[in-house]
Amino acid sequence: MYSEIKIKDKKISNWINKELKRQKEHIELIASENYVSNDVLKATGSILTNKYGEGYPNKRYYGGCENVDQIENIAIERLKKLFNVKYANVQSYSGSTANAAAIAALIPKDGKILGMGLSSGGHLSHGYKISFSGYFYKSYSYDVDENGLLDYDKILEQAKKIKPDLIICGASAYSRIIDFKKFHKIAKEVGAKLMADIAHIAGLVATGLHPSPFEFCDVVTSTTHKTLRGARGGIIMTNNEEVAKNVDKWVFPGYQGGPLFHQIAGKAVAFGEALKPSFKKYQQQVINNASIFCQEFKNKGIKIISEKTDNHLFMIDVKQSFNLTGKQATEILKSINITVNKNSIPNDLESPQITSGIRVGTPAMTTRGFKEKEFIKLANIIYLLLSNYKNKKIINELKKEVKKLNDKFPI
Ligand SMILES: Cc1ncc(COP(=O)(O)O)c(C=O)c1O
Repeated sequence: MYSEIKIKDKKISNWINKELKRQKEHIELIASENYVSNDVLKATGSILTNKYGEGYPNKRYYGGCENVDQIENIAIERLKKLFNVKYANVQSYSGSTANAAAIAALIPKDGKILGMGLSSGGHLSHGYKISFSGYFYKSYSYDVDENGLLDYDKILEQAKKIKPDLIICGASAYSRIIDFKKFHKIAKEVGAKLMADIAHIAGLVATGLHPSPFEFCDVVTSTTHKTLRGARGGIIMTNNEEVAKNVDKWVFPGYQGGPLFHQIAGKAVAFGEALKPSFKKYQQQVINNASIFCQEFKNKGIKIISEKTDNHLFMIDVKQSFNLTGKQATEILKSINITVNKNSIPNDLESPQITSGIRVGTPAMTTRGFKEKEFIKLANIIYLLLSNYKNKKIINELKKEVKKLNDKFPI
């Protein structure tokens, strides 16, 4: 169980404790969030934040690194075991900086990148124009088809025309299996390097519940705080020694300074947890919950992007289903303590600030103990609310139901 913090700075502790209350009282459906264990929390909040140690274990530019060297080595070894991969870098401050370092390790500056478009479910760091990846590289994007599915033949055609130096696969909002083998074939055919960003599905990949990209990709990046349920940050992995050397150079000194050892310790603890059999059971429950949650909406005639889900998340077209924008739906759900995020959908006519969709995911509430029964209930609550968002009586009743459901699974 999480507890309130007591520090002398009342202004900050007040806001932290308010955030704790919010996390306790809200049903959390943001697909990229999770609740870390108390052990991860303690390691992350430890005195390791005091330590500087630019460089890598046994090759630091600072003294006094004998303890943090051990911690970083343990994190690396656990991560390698978790994904059955030869080389791992655990220092990236975030998923975006991991991607920056991984891209730089693979292709020259000004190189051509082909990544998944943002409104199709891709991430900013996969070549979007306002991110480093679209600014420092020549970037192009592939999109999903009219059914919201990756069309590998079409991506091949596009890749043949563009001749990218690098293809990026992986997504922030794609609910179906990603076929890394097919991406590998495309990359091979056009002579491009291949990078997979498994930020969202890392927990599923680690437990064998989503096909692994390692056999097919030059480099694999991820965040550590989504399905992987660790301290926030990025990781980069590869089976290629040359690529690994380049990655290390581009993480430090390329893009970063001193490693955040408190985060690395929090990652190491989480990797240890992920190596336990209970983690696979958790990931299976995440998938089972997402599948039934999604099906329940489909049964009510709600439009699901990409037809269904194979993983931990899915997107609802709230424009077509309820005549609401993503922004409106998010605010309405917030009013009864359900947290989701608005999300662009393929061919969205609304701006990314408004959107026509919402994205929902099951990792966080599965950590809190939700099973199929609770997600079926939740789908009904969401459906009733978005269909009757002007009816005060219904809103009040649903608010009570959410509280009852939420309070049964404390954090
Ligand atoms: C696929 C993917 N890659 C990278 C990132 C970036 O991670 P961070 O927010 O830690 O920079 C995200 C974040 O949502 C993501 O979904």
